[in-house]
Amino acid sequence: MAGGAIVNTAGGKDYPGKLTLFVFFTCVVAATGGLIFGYDIGISGGVTAMDPFLKKFFPEVYRKKQAAQTNQYCQYDNQLLQTFTSSLYLAALVASFFAATVTRVMGRKWSMFGGGLTFLIGAALNGAAKNVAMLIIGRILLGIGVGFANQSVPVYLSEMAPARLRGMLNIGFQLMITIGILAAELINYGTNKIKAGYGWRVSLALAAVPAGIITLGSLFLPDTPNSLLDRGTDDIGEEYADLVAASDEARKVEHPWRNIIKRRYRAQLTMAIMIPFFQQLTGINVIMFYAPVLFQTLGFKGDASLMSSVITGLVNVFATVVSIFTVDRLGRRALFLQGGTQMIVCQVVVGTLIAVKFGTSGIGDIPKGYAAVVVLFICIYVAGFAWSWGPLGWLVPSEIFPLEIRPAGQSINVSVNMFFTFCIAQAFLTMLCHFKFGLFYFFGGWVVIMTIFIALFLPETKNVPIEEMVLVWKSHWFWKKFIADEDVHVGGNHLQMAAGNGKGADA
Ligand code: BGC
Repeated sequence: MAGGAIVNTAGGKDYPGKLTLFVFFTCVVAATGGLIFGYDIGISGGVTAMDPFLKKFFPEVYRKKQAAQTNQYCQYDNQLLQTFTSSLYLAALVASFFAATVTRVMGRKWSMFGGGLTFLIGAALNGAAKNVAMLIIGRILLGIGVGFANQSVPVYLSEMAPARLRGMLNIGFQLMITIGILAAELINYGTNKIKAGYGWRVSLALAAVPAGIITLGSLFLPDTPNSLLDRGTDDIGEEYADLVAASDEARKVEHPWRNIIKRRYRAQLTMAIMIPFFQQLTGINVIMFYAPVLFQTLGFKGDASLMSSVITGLVNVFATVVSIFTVDRLGRRALFLQGGTQMIVCQVVVGTLIAVKFGTSGIGDIPKGYAAVVVLFICIYVAGFAWSWGPLGWLVPSEIFPLEIRPAGQSINVSVNMFFTFCIAQAFLTMLCHFKFGLFYFFGGWVVIMTIFIALFLPETKNVPIEEMVLVWKSHWFWKKFIADEDVHVGGNHLQMAAGNGKGADA
């Protein structure tokens, strides 16, 4: 489906902004795809902070943690433990390369159904795990499903939405991610209280709930436009003309990978690589994956550390809602620049607060009030991310690729994102051990760079119909030199191939 065989039904001239059944199903797709991704992000940190889990699978980490007066920064430094978290993202990276093709061949419905089943098996393996191998194979299966969902959902949403609501509808995906994360954190908080020590099993097995929603939900989804056309026309009514137009256009997209390296797509290619790279270099997943571990490092006891991660999870959800209502009014750039600045300030403050108490030796105690201030600044940081790089990291790439390069562009976006998510998951606990409080300055430095990058190189894309996006690049001070005049014919034959869904301008 990310192959572009999708109609801009709601955004088309004939039905401007109408919430058709088709658009409604889009939201269902977004909901389930985002939920499972979020649940997987949020669940691992709490589980790896649970003692029964550590005792069973990572006894060495457990021993280190028990030893009095160890270097706080280093107690969780263990490659295998990080692999438990990170393997999912590696699998998602690989899956995203196949997702576009598989979905085109099998159709959205059956590839979602298959993805849902993969999730279910992954959740079952995790919940029943007897050894580290079962844990990691389960995570890999979950990752395959995530690769598929993240490849298709954001682009699908942006194509379906009318231009003036595109930001809002697309962020539905990110909102579901954050709800998934929060749900996972709440569940960890509850299962951690199970005295018999199997709480981690419940946490991991409950991934089956969003997985079950996807599997069942997919059976109710409308087929792909192409298979609808093959089947006949009676039951699709007014959307038929759009389906024909869109599938004709999609068929013309033969060489997305060859096209995307053409000079005139230099801007899009750059964004497909830099935006997901920067999103991960904000350091957000240090908080999302390892908040409970981080808070324990700061001296919070088991329960308090899980509670604090529930608090950051709540902030994440509510701040995402802020972006839903502002993104199509204030625009993408304003959110990027404001959110980035907020994150920089918080990172410097948190790094300094930790430096003062732990220094470089990593030995020390943080009083309660002091720790609360650290958590407060972490929350302000999370809010900044949640209305900027969080949603926009998925929205902007999904709206800037013309049809001709869309499958390739989105594959690059997802795989770069997953690759750096993997790197952070794999390296964070080791980095904390070596960089110590400097880790917060390290990510803060990156946010400075990315904020300048946005200021200089990202034009505003709010309210611009996808098929007219070429005009935005053509009038940008830097990117215009890459686009020849003959590449810009809005409404002309060439543009229909290069940038449109075959219907000309959006209403
Ligand atoms: C990012 C994830 C992150 C999440 C946090 C998403 O946009 O891609 O890596 O964990 O936001 O809410």
